[in-house]
Amino acid sequence: MSNQQLALQIDKPGDIPVVGPREIPNVPAGEVLIKILATALNPADWKIQDMGFLSVFPAIPGTDLAGEVETVGAGVTKFKKGDRVMTQGFFDVPDRASFQQYTLMKENFVAKIPASLSYEEAATIPMCFVTAAVGLFAPSAANLNPGVEWLGHKQTGQTILIIGGSTSVGQYVVQLAKFIGFTNIIVYASKKHHTYLTGLGATQCIDRSAVSLDALADAIPGEVDLVYDAVMFPEAQDAATNIVRVGGKVATVSNGADMRSEAVKEASKDKHFYMVAGGAQWPGQEEFCAALWERAERFLIEGIVKPNRHELLPGGLRAIVPGLERLKKDEVSGVKLVVRPHDTEI
Ligand SMILES: NC(=O)c1ccc[n+]([C@@H]2O[C@H](COP(=O)([O-])OP(=O)(O)OC[C@H]3O[C@@H](n4cnc5c(N)ncnc54)[C@H](OP(=O)(O)O)[C@@H]3O)[C@@H](O)[C@H]2O)c1
Repeated sequence: MSNQQLALQIDKPGDIPVVGPREIPNVPAGEVLIKILATALNPADWKIQDMGFLSVFPAIPGTDLAGEVETVGAGVTKFKKGDRVMTQGFFDVPDRASFQQYTLMKENFVAKIPASLSYEEAATIPMCFVTAAVGLFAPSAANLNPGVEWLGHKQTGQTILIIGGSTSVGQYVVQLAKFIGFTNIIVYASKKHHTYLTGLGATQCIDRSAVSLDALADAIPGEVDLVYDAVMFPEAQDAATNIVRVGGKVATVSNGADMRSEAVKEASKDKHFYMVAGGAQWPGQEEFCAALWERAERFLIEGIVKPNRHELLPGGLRAIVPGLERLKKDEVSGVKLVVRPHDTEI
């Protein structure tokens, strides 16, 4: 195997990413080198560039990936060459990014994918599945299943509201809320996604173009025990906090930014508010994420978690910049954009 690959690289802050050659890294002990056969695009991929979060240049963006184990490092026991796997890459760590043809990952954060799933389907899972699971299960957030166990219907009688039910994160929250037995799973999403979300486990769908966030509380019968904000707007965080019952929990996909108004914060001191750090690379998430990755294949085999619907973009890595533009303009709804890095022409 040549030691060169193609990667989508940002040479310095503010540059447009371009496809170019990059060395394939050597595999450290405890890690696997994965040949990336599909990678998915996320709004987070353009946000981290635009918000100046990249600090290691040339930078390689991208985190969602599925592929084949190419080489295993010393001491790796869970995987062998040729295994079909998926993982969540790390932001701002070029050797662990996904918008390239090969990447490295610690074996503890990698899962096998069942034969029933294509690489394209599997690539839609990692980041948003992890973000959903951290928000609902992890000790750093709602803490409903810190050991990622098969607990039965633990949340029977409880109600969860998901603002942004049709986002990729929202779709995984619906499925995991069903897994831990919420009786009422209410989603706030465009009407065109309601049938699909009901199929995933939603028990009530509220059309976001017919009901404003301000009026959302009136459309919900009874108390809400947990609200998951899967959209990250100040208005969504305010609405989530207002709607949840006293003593209830709000989890937001806003990683590190409490965007709520001072008035809402002041009036909600008796409600819990958690910002979700959706990935193993964030401080304090390693142990939980390792437990989650250990069980990820079982979630897929048992059909508890299904991948997002996806649209495959032709052109390999060169399709990523136009694809991220579509995400930025809010032109993508209810599907994940996916590319195959090895389709890239030189
Ligand atoms: N904290 C973390 O670690 C972390 C990790 C991953 C993602 N995120 C963040 O989580 C958010 C969701 O990411 P994603 O990848 O799941 O997004 P996505 O799938 O790209 O979301 C697109 C969907 O957003 C929905 N939407 C837009 N505005 C909305 C609103 N006002 N109310 C309800 N739904 C709305 C649209 O749904 P409809 O067409 O149905 O209206 C659209 O289908 C993003 O802000 C992302 O940056 C955070």
